[in-house]
Amino acid sequence: MKALVLAGGTGSRLRPFTHTRAKQLLPIANRPVVHYALQAIADAGIEEVGVVVGGHGDAIRRAVGEGSAFGLRITYLHQPRPLGLAHAVTVARDFLGDDDFLLYLGDNHLEDGVTGFVRRATAERDAGRLLLTPVPDPTAFGVAEVDGEGIVRQLEEKPERPRSDLALVGVYAFTPAVHEAVRAISPSGRGELEITDAVQWMIDRGWRVRAETTTRPWRDTGSVDDLLEANRSVLDRMEGRVDGKVDPHSVLVGRVSIAEGAVVRGSRIVGPVVVGAGAVITDSHVGPYTAIGENCRIQDSAIEFSVLLQGASVEGAARIERSLIGREAVVAAAPRPLQAHRLIIGDHSKVQLIP
Ligand code: G1P
Repeated sequence: MKALVLAGGTGSRLRPFTHTRAKQLLPIANRPVVHYALQAIADAGIEEVGVVVGGHGDAIRRAVGEGSAFGLRITYLHQPRPLGLAHAVTVARDFLGDDDFLLYLGDNHLEDGVTGFVRRATAERDAGRLLLTPVPDPTAFGVAEVDGEGIVRQLEEKPERPRSDLALVGVYAFTPAVHEAVRAISPSGRGELEITDAVQWMIDRGWRVRAETTTRPWRDTGSVDDLLEANRSVLDRMEGRVDGKVDPHSVLVGRVSIAEGAVVRGSRIVGPVVVGAGAVITDSHVGPYTAIGENCRIQDSAIEFSVLLQGASVEGAARIERSLIGREAVVAAAPRPLQAHRLIIGDHSKVQLIP
């Protein structure tokens, strides 16, 4: 079995971050989201992986490489425009050949991996196999209706009136039968070739599509809140480890991971927290549930339940929470006497001020 990882798409719900980088490269506990997908694929025993990339393809290539770090052989496939998940499968037609494959959306994060799913898909070889999970708001996902034997009867993409609460997790297994389906369907209302429509096309022709339902932790990291949640749950399972320097005036509570080359002075860090190489934290309170990227600076601030990307700096901020702060972004206290908020923020940014 091969795997096809989709790492294109526009990531509109993650603007402004996705103006300058692929959403699959945003970090969970200081590792790009897509690394977790590749690790899960490798753990499932798959070796050959196609990664479909779009506008930010070069950055993905740099962050992922040719796969040896994961024990994988990676082939990059270019999708010129984000025309849908089924379109990405057509782009990969030659790479996939006549092999069965696992389709994995590169912004999905499954804490328990896909090993069991891949094993069962290989053993049973239905035309399609879907992974489902109950969600509180199915209107944001593809939704499946399944019979008592686990056979999928109907699928609908982001329905207004969902017929079940079972959302499609972004992990699917297919035999080569799917290629006929992705060629046969037409673009949806949002102008994309939907994998959901391709699977429905298979069901309508009497091909067997089976579903597995999971209640294990899963996130589509396509929005800031979901990314923060994924970060929280990965940090929750992380071990503490201090390789950097922590001065005697600092206190670490719980599981805190401080990379080599990071420095903590006069600060209190309440885990779970991860601090990247080269970061400097001075006279601050950090955590819980916070990931500080490489070379960040935090001074005279309090920050919790947040993610800072490489090189971000926060100074004199009384209290920051539930925030995602971009690369090299600067958050600083206004000079005294305090007169006004001064904002230099990019397109689609969002700032919440305390009046
Ligand atoms: C896609 C699929 C949807 C699935 C979701 C899972 O949605 O179209 O069926 O439930 O991924 O993450 P998108 O993220 O493209 O809106």
